[in-house]
Amino acid sequence: MEGNMSAVEIKPISGGVGVEISNVDLSKELSNSDFSTIRDAFIEHGLIFFHDQNLTPEQHIEFAERWAPININRFFAKVPGYEKIAEVRKEPDQTSNIGGGWHTDHSYDQIPAMGSILLARETPPIGGDTLFACMYKAYESLSPGLKKTLEAMNAVHSSRHVFGEQSAYKDEFGERLGNASAATQDAIHPVIITHPESGRKALYVNPGFTIHFEGWTAAESKPLLDYLYKHAATLENTTRFQWREGSIAFWDNRATWHYALNDYHGERRVMHRITLDGGPLN
Ligand code: SIN
Repeated sequence: MEGNMSAVEIKPISGGVGVEISNVDLSKELSNSDFSTIRDAFIEHGLIFFHDQNLTPEQHIEFAERWAPININRFFAKVPGYEKIAEVRKEPDQTSNIGGGWHTDHSYDQIPAMGSILLARETPPIGGDTLFACMYKAYESLSPGLKKTLEAMNAVHSSRHVFGEQSAYKDEFGERLGNASAATQDAIHPVIITHPESGRKALYVNPGFTIHFEGWTAAESKPLLDYLYKHAATLENTTRFQWREGSIAFWDNRATWHYALNDYHGERRVMHRITLDGGPLN
């Protein structure tokens, strides 16, 4: 279908952030019209969800590659046989989960990933939801004075404390994370970025990977970072997504944070994540 004939439906799932897209089958090649409708929703909202998309790994890769080249995460275990798909797994006997705190993926890279497409393979009967927060709204709801101050600042982001040799989580995650010796580089990004596609400004610091403001010590940075984190995670600025097998969340790392809830001990949860290349942030 071309022109205005796309039957894709788009519905917000909360007042905070995120829309659910239905009436589309991602296992099939999308028409240009459907793809463009979905792309516009992604750029506008920064967070799109789908249900009942039981894609094969090949179809998951094919859908992802329509958006951008795949960025292979260097720390996550891979889905066996699929180098391009990271596995986010928690077994019934494990207590720690991957992504269990507010963060945005790959902010520790000089050129951070654009987004991630997470597909639910096995979900617990109850729990295992993911929370998301909108970084456009986090920026827009700051005072003019604080906006101006932050617009002149950069922040340093790192993977060392999460994925590196000295990570407190190293033993907990065992085989699920690895390659600690690759957690060597830090990255500096503006605290307020202008989204390269929507043109909107967004807050770009996160509790997972931001370690301090450029030119400030960690101790000096902490009070202001803590303020920003509390502000950004205001409940009205968030949404909570309930998964079932075949659900997909596709988030824009430049416009959102996410947080995988760890409230399903004794159950298995398995997700397949493909992360997409982004560009430099300004
Ligand atoms: C992640 O942080 O990428 C994982 C999110 C989730 O498992 O819900």
